[in-house]
Order: sequence, then structure tokens, then C-alpha cells
Amino acid sequence: MVILASKPQILKGLEGVYVSETKLSYIDGLNSRLYYVGYRIEDLVAFSSYEEVAFLLYFYRLPKKEEFELFKGFLSGSRTIPHDVVELIRRMALRRAHPMDILRTAVSYLAIFDPELNLIGREANIRKAIRLLARVPTIVASIYRLSRGLDPIEPREDLRHAENFLYMLHGKIPTEFEAKVMDTIFILHAEHGMNASSFSSIVTASTLSDIYSAVVSGIAALKGPLHGGAAEAAYYQFKEIGEPENVDQWVREALKAKRRIMGMGHRVYKSYDPRARIMKELDAEIANKYGGEPEKLYRISIKLEEVALREFESRGRTDIQPNVDFYTPIAYTALKIPPEFFTAVFAVSRTVGWTAKVIEYTEDNRLIRPLDYYVGELDRKYVPINER
Ligand code: CMC
Repeated sequence: MVILASKPQILKGLEGVYVSETKLSYIDGLNSRLYYVGYRIEDLVAFSSYEEVAFLLYFYRLPKKEEFELFKGFLSGSRTIPHDVVELIRRMALRRAHPMDILRTAVSYLAIFDPELNLIGREANIRKAIRLLARVPTIVASIYRLSRGLDPIEPREDLRHAENFLYMLHGKIPTEFEAKVMDTIFILHAEHGMNASSFSSIVTASTLSDIYSAVVSGIAALKGPLHGGAAEAAYYQFKEIGEPENVDQWVREALKAKRRIMGMGHRVYKSYDPRARIMKELDAEIANKYGGEPEKLYRISIKLEEVALREFESRGRTDIQPNVDFYTPIAYTALKIPPEFFTAVFAVSRTVGWTAKVIEYTEDNRLIRPLDYYVGELDRKYVPINER
């Protein structure tokens, strides 16, 4: 083996590496705090809406009344997707593809219908971002409908973002409570520092590729169970546990087998994920209101949190705590969103984070191009195939 230079420090997983400045979000991982543009997530969930959070992330301030009306009008007026995209979804749904695979492909196809696809600059990117924000929910709802052999439902301009999404899924206007639960989930997943999918988005955008390609990169990275796919995995984990009384034994066996508890642990939070805390409170209300499966999942997850935290603590690991994906499956189940759609719903929300990050990063763009340290051989002699 040839050593080229003294071995550099390799920061696996880029842990602790800062790649840019941002005004979008701040995670205080030691004190369980998350801020969007300086506003506490708890205040935004209590007083704001996903649409207002989107405005905040694109313009770094809360909107005035008239400009908010304009913004919402542009958003709700951009919800329809081209017929060709629906047909592509239909074909993929017939092949029983996973919603995330269909979503990734459909967003990529959607790009070619945008007349501004290759127009660069902040203004054009904001217009494209809002169109994406409006259309990704329509794509996900169409995947849901077509996967069930149902016709897609046309979006309605008169409904709020969360309301319209649930309407396109189930064909009826949700209750105020359901819309609030959906809006809360959307707000909580909107933006989250330099997570893996946002990083993928800016890596793509940093080459001066287009914003659709950046979002496709984000979707691709979100899919994995260490990132957005964790909620789906957490749901199956709760189902595997089956009953709250099985939790003790399940945790012992899982940790002995070195399995990860899905929906727990985080690269940045070393304290309780504030999004998980908000979801947990909401889940208590949901469990009480709905009973049935959401209530059972709630009882299992509460017990799992208690037992897992105790076990982690006994191993000196007080840093592994529930993250947002631990407590969303209960709410999704109450909203009749099946587990294979959890990550796609996360993507509906995170579209704002990805696009806002791309817009922010490319305003002061620099190609993202790190290094890898070569540890293979050099100057190997090429042997023709018949002599090997
Ligand atoms: N269950 C059991 N052990 C864990 C867990 C967990 N959920 N999370 C971390 N650990 C242990 C891990 O085994 C390792 O132990 P050791 O050092 O003895 O080998 C140590 O903690 C560090 O793990 P790591 O994977 O190097 O740490 P990381 O900073 O890369 O971990 C994580 C972050 C999210 C990948 C990890 O906590 C995990 O796999 N969690 C489960 C999946 C999950 O819930 N992901 C959702 C993340 S939040 C939503 C989002 O934004 O996507």
C-alpha cells in the first residue's frame, strides 16, 4: 500500500463539520430547542400555519396581511399537476412501487413541465419553489389514490395547505382537529438544519443544477431509515412489539442483538427532540379522542420510551432520546395515512426546507467538493485478461 501523505483527520459522517452559514433554522441540541428564523417551534405550532412558515423561510420574516394573501393565492393556485405526471404515477402504482420511489420519479418528471426550469437566480427559484411546494402534495395524494385503484382528486384552491392535502387523500374535507394535526406535522418537518437530505439538495444545487434536481436529491436521501424513513420503521417496530406488556422483553432482546430502536437517537439532539415532545402531547389527545389503533400505538410507544430510556441510561447513554419520528406514526394512523406514506408526507413538508436551503446557499454559491483519502495501491501493472 502506498501512503500519499500523512493521514488527514477524517470526519466520518461529516460530524461536527460546518458547511455554510444559515438564517433558516437553529437547533439547540443540548437544550431541546428548535427555531425557524429565530421563532420557537412551539410558538409557530401554536399560532402560525405551514403556509406562514413557508413564507418565513423564503423571506426571513413573517408576512404582512396583503402579502400573505398573495403568497397563499399563488400557492393554492399552483396545485394542479400535469396529466402526464398523473399517468406516470398510475403506471408506477400499478407495479406496486413504494410511494417514495414513485415520488422521486414523479418530481423528476414534473421538472420538464416548468418553463423556468433552467432559469437561475433568487426570484425564479422562489417561483419554482412555491410551485413545488404546491404540487408535491398533489403528487403524494395521487400516489395514494392510484395505489389503491382510486381516481386522484383534483386539488381545491379554497382549502388551506393541510386541509387540501387531507381532502385530496380521502375525498372529504377534514375536521378542524384533523387539519390542525396535519398542519402541526407539516410545521414540525419543514426545516431542520443541515440534515442529510438538505445537504444532498445543496450539493446538487452547488453545481448550478436546477432546483427540481436538488429536491429529487433531497427525496432520495430522505428515504433511508436513518433519516425520514425512520417513522415508517418505528411504526413496524410498534407493530412487532404488539402489546405494551411485551416492551420490556422486546427492548432487552433488541439491544442484545444490537438492533437500533427506530425513532430514537439523533446526530444533533443530545436532549429530547422538541418536535417529539410536541407530537407526544398531541398524540395523548389523539389517543384519547380516537381510541383504536392510535391509542394502542400510543400506549406501546409511551412504554417503549420509558423502558428504552432506562436501558440506555443504565449503559451510560442519556443522549439517546426519542426523535420526531418516534411519535408521528400515531398521528398519521389517526389521519388514516398508511405507514408506507409516512416518509412521503415528510417530503411534502420538507420541500420548503430543501428549496429554502437551496435558495439561501446558491446566493453565495460555492461548489461543494470535499476530498477522500486514497488508501489503495498505485502503479499496478495491467495484466491482459487471458493472462490473469
Ligand atoms: N438505538 C440503539 N442505539 C443507538 C440508537 C438507537 N436508536 N441511536 C444511536 N445508537 C447508538 C449506536 O449504536 C452507537 O453506539 P456505539 O457507539 O456503541 O456503536 C452510538 O449510539 C452512535 O450511533 P451513530 O449511528 O454513530 O450516531 P449518529 O449520530 O450517526 O446517529 C442516528 C444518529 C439518527 C443515525 C441514530 O441515532 C439512529 O440510527 N437512530 C435510529 C433511526 C432514527 O430514528 N432516525 C431518525 C432521525 S431524526 C428524523 C430525521 O430528521 O430524519
